[in-house]
Amino acid sequence: MSKDFDVEFKKDLMRKADIVTTALGTIMQEQSEIQPLLSEAMKYTLLSGGKRIRGAIVLWICQMLKGKITHEAKTAAAAIEMVHTYSLVHDDLPAMDNDDLRRGKPTLHKKYDEATAILAGDGLLTLAFEMLATEIPDSNLAIKLVGVLATVAGPSGMVAGQMADILAEKQPANIESLEYIHQNKTAMMFSGAATLGALCGDAKRKQLHNLANYGLKLGLCFQIADDILDVCSTSEEMGKTVGKDQAQDKTTYPSLLGLEKSKEIAEKLTNEALDTLSSFDEKADTLRYLATEMLNRKN
Ligand code: IPE
Ligand code: IPE
Ligand code: MG
Ligand code: MG
Ligand code: MG
Repeated sequence: MSKDFDVEFKKDLMRKADIVTTALGTIMQEQSEIQPLLSEAMKYTLLSGGKRIRGAIVLWICQMLKGKITHEAKTAAAAIEMVHTYSLVHDDLPAMDNDDLRRGKPTLHKKYDEATAILAGDGLLTLAFEMLATEIPDSNLAIKLVGVLATVAGPSGMVAGQMADILAEKQPANIESLEYIHQNKTAMMFSGAATLGALCGDAKRKQLHNLANYGLKLGLCFQIADDILDVCSTSEEMGKTVGKDQAQDKTTYPSLLGLEKSKEIAEKLTNEALDTLSSFDEKADTLRYLATEMLNRKN
């Protein structure tokens, strides 16, 4: 695609990230009953950067199908970013990946303490579902959104992937178990983001199916890129400590297959993501571009 499209895409991603961050800020501001220290700790990681890719996917897909970004889509985008942020806060804990740096700042447990980080994570997870339950006037839609987010984030989705990721530190994984880890810890949330956007955009059955698959392929590619960046990028660029996967004996695509083969697989996944969009017109070009950007991303 042309250079102009690249510039437009980057501007659009920034606009979408702003919409998501504004929605998150409003939610936190309106939640005056949250215990003060918890509120401060939740906002510390939630409102400080983050690329907002999952939230942007919700907005892009709703916009593509419905021609506008609805309040429902903004709420769903905020909800998935809250769940994603909770997953990072817990992922960074000493009992998990034991990381000191996140989104360019000390991790939540470093800034506060472990108990506060655990509870702030719990708060973000629960608040996400409260928002879907209270902010979506159409109860039929609200129930569907709640169900999707719970499925992709829960013990047969992201949490399952995180469990398998931790187990693989002690018992090295083969390619099948690595696919299981990546599919669950990361790709499910991307598929969930796409599905939330599709539901908010009143997608037809077939569209819903294709977009969920698009998210899955995109998410797998995203995690392989994350593994590659952990080897090739810098902590400044990433806003989190790099070189951690090898130090912690994580099974990753680069550790199992090497960098070149990992990039080949990511390229294949990009093409598979593009295939899932074959029945969509040029309104899906932003989603297409996003898929091709996965391997070019710098952070
Ligand atoms: C980090 O996700 C965790 C992974 C699944 C690799 P992001 O790279 O999207 O993190 P933020 O939200 O931009 O901080
Ligand atoms: C984490 O994967 C995926 C989550 C569900 C949070 P990583 O452990 O590789 O993510 P980073 O590299 O710490 O962001
Ligand atoms: Mg991890
Ligand atoms: Mg980690
Ligand atoms: Mg990583």
